[in-house]
Amino acid sequence: MAEMIKLISGTANTDLTSRIASYLKMELCDVSVGRFSDGEIRVSINENIRGNDIFIVQPTFPPAENLLELLVLVDACYRASANRITAVIPYYGYARQDRKDQPRVPITAKLVANLIETAGTSRVLALELHAAQIQGFFDVQVDNLFATSVLLEYIRGRNLKDLTIVSPDVGGIKMGRAFAKRLNADLAIADKRRTGADASEVMNIIGEVKGSDIIILDDIISTAGTITTAAEALKAAGAGKIIAAATHPILSGNAIERLEKSCIEEVVVTNSIPLNGKEKCKKIKVVDVSALLGEAILRIHNDESISMLFI
Ligand code: R5P
Repeated sequence: MAEMIKLISGTANTDLTSRIASYLKMELCDVSVGRFSDGEIRVSINENIRGNDIFIVQPTFPPAENLLELLVLVDACYRASANRITAVIPYYGYARQDRKDQPRVPITAKLVANLIETAGTSRVLALELHAAQIQGFFDVQVDNLFATSVLLEYIRGRNLKDLTIVSPDVGGIKMGRAFAKRLNADLAIADKRRTGADASEVMNIIGEVKGSDIIILDDIISTAGTITTAAEALKAAGAGKIIAAATHPILSGNAIERLEKSCIEEVVVTNSIPLNGKEKCKKIKVVDVSALLGEAILRIHNDESISMLFI
């Protein structure tokens, strides 16, 4: 008999999990997530999950309580004798420290992978990991989806002219090239130099952008420093309309103020991270990744290929 599938929501992005549940036409598993009086996370699974195929949805953006909650939920499922536990991580936090690029710094992407695996996770379903090689930081199987199809659908509907895709750093060239190919657009690169942990400047625009409409494509918008400085350099180089597209809207610090003041006309992001009111910024458009994640969950449960989702 096929194992029963169950979907569990952490508290980090309940709206996204509800949408995934609607896509899958199923109820969420009955789970209580609360706090003890000292603030420690308290979880209980209120139904039998013995032998079940469990999918726990929890993005791990700050605070670290989100990550801890995922670990506690996995532990609860493991001890309740679930057959398989998949951590569905729409945003994988601590990913940007993925290599030792200076003396005496941690590799947090690996540390977090160790934590998730040690908790009892059987496999991981991620969305747009900051670096593809993070898959190898796990010894369990990882499926790393891309939000490309969802972002492309939005961009295609914008009727942009003489389009150029701009990667705001060399790390994003592969993704930029994939977009450019699908949109029959040109590709340019902003030569970004980091001037601090959360600060950067653009040295040069590599490629022709004069008169073109632009999509600046990135995986994460945190302080929005990267995309707004790239946008300024692009305008100075004669670019037309500028739109930014990114999968993960962290939008920390004064990101919204920066975006409001910038020459970027629209910022398209996914709902991998909840915006908690930031969507009031008129420039921000949110596209939904619940069907993408829901379809991947279904296919993993049924042991079907998910490669058709990598378009
Ligand atoms: C960096 O490698 C990432 O791809 C993003 O460009 C970066 O995280 C964006 O950060 P911020 O919005 O703070 O400039």
